[in-house]
Amino acid sequence: MSISRRTLLATGALAGVAIGLPATALTKATAAHAKTLADPFTLGVASGDPDHDGFVLWTRLAVEPLAEDGLGGMPDRFIPVQWQVATDERFRHVVRAGVEFARPEAAHSVHVELGGLLPGREYFYRFRVGNHLSPVGRTRTAPAPWTITSALAMAFVSCSQYEHGYFTAYRRLAEDEPDLVLHLGDYQYEYAKDTYNIPGGNPRDHEGPETRTLANYRQRHAQYKMDQDLQAAHAVAPWLVVWDDHEIENNWADEVPEQPDADFLARREAAFKAYYENMPLRRTGIPRGIDMQLYRRIRWGRLANFHMLDTRQYRDDQGCGDGYKDCPAAVDPARSITGAEQEAWLLDGFRRSEARWDILGQQVFFAQRDNNSGPKKVTSQDGWDGYVASRDRITRGWMAAGVRNPIVLTGDVHAHWASDLKLNYDDPASPTVGAELVCSSITSGGNGTDSIPSAHPFLSINPHLRFYNNQRGYVLTRIDERQLKADFKVVPFVTTPGAPAYTRASFVVDDGVPGLHQTYDRPIDPA
Ligand SMILES: [Fe+2]
Repeated sequence: MSISRRTLLATGALAGVAIGLPATALTKATAAHAKTLADPFTLGVASGDPDHDGFVLWTRLAVEPLAEDGLGGMPDRFIPVQWQVATDERFRHVVRAGVEFARPEAAHSVHVELGGLLPGREYFYRFRVGNHLSPVGRTRTAPAPWTITSALAMAFVSCSQYEHGYFTAYRRLAEDEPDLVLHLGDYQYEYAKDTYNIPGGNPRDHEGPETRTLANYRQRHAQYKMDQDLQAAHAVAPWLVVWDDHEIENNWADEVPEQPDADFLARREAAFKAYYENMPLRRTGIPRGIDMQLYRRIRWGRLANFHMLDTRQYRDDQGCGDGYKDCPAAVDPARSITGAEQEAWLLDGFRRSEARWDILGQQVFFAQRDNNSGPKKVTSQDGWDGYVASRDRITRGWMAAGVRNPIVLTGDVHAHWASDLKLNYDDPASPTVGAELVCSSITSGGNGTDSIPSAHPFLSINPHLRFYNNQRGYVLTRIDERQLKADFKVVPFVTTPGAPAYTRASFVVDDGVPGLHQTYDRPIDPA
């Protein structure tokens, strides 16, 4: 590269609709190349990790997104990508602009990390390469650190298996125009086609083999990002993303794969690199070998702290070979699902919190779900039930810190659930100390069915569980200083496109009163 980024930022920072970069600022070859490219904006745009004065903008260039080498048909050279941020959708009032280089070693992904913007504001952004303009994305900054006045509309999602259906729930979420979206993992799945099938067959297929190499993961990310419904959801609001297992491999635990695999660490490194390249993450998340810093805290003024957790990278291996088991290891106090460092960071965050709501954005079921009605305790060894001492330390930690309103958000289980959180789940008289909201999948599992929640056996065995629904969808919350309201949204089908979305049930948590109150219950459709 013959010219510094600083020079380009200075010359490229032109206000107005025309964001022409002087060709003299680039080598002639590079400028010429950018002009002859086909439309490289096939993967959409995204933004993420807002703070009170900025956010990350993301795109990735690909002219042949499904290319087997994962490089999107892009030339083996850097490409200058101009970007603009405006206060209006038509870019009449451009407030920031510049150039970043999309590099082949990062699969031509671009991360623009911005500061210096105004708090609590809506912004629009777009990119340009040669004559090609990207779609326009909407994003926003978090409110100023000391403010609590405005309400937040936040949606959270998980488990979007491309093969199991159309991403209609992402489209409906985009139409709700939330301020913030949390993805709690299983953004993509590792399988080759015809290995993870729903009854009646998958309506769509993965491209390529089971993902193991960097090329595989890059190609898979590209296939997902090509989906127009997913692109709409990214373009509507900033996202906070955390992975679960399938971004790497089913039920991995730290350095332990599901099945013995001598190459697992190389696989993990490849998956982490591709994940960073394809997500709107800050540069603190750039992976270093097999490590990637994913857990982090996002502050939404004094209204909410989002403690985004990573319960995969540091956990002890699942006890008793995983699965639903009555497993002695589950209560071993030496075992952890977060690792000691992340646990200390979280407890410290509780102690320092001045937020009205402390929200844990994380992967796996937090409350106890015993599936045995007798004295045996048969629980999932992959969730917090497999790491009871971890759950206890976190719960007691927020109580000791006097956290005002602890809320746990969860994905993974492909069904909507709502639960009161208890200090002792085996004693129904034990005080309620928080609430857990679990979102169903976007598609994983296929269409699903509606049912009477109390008919699920878990609800009678575990009286703290308050709601269950096995349809696809997302959860839309509205959070203000007095109340958190959660609408459990469902789409009645995903194996064909175009489903409507409706609210199946609503729950509220009132400020200072731990636990859920149901405020709406939609009657089941007569079949
Ligand atoms: Fe999943």
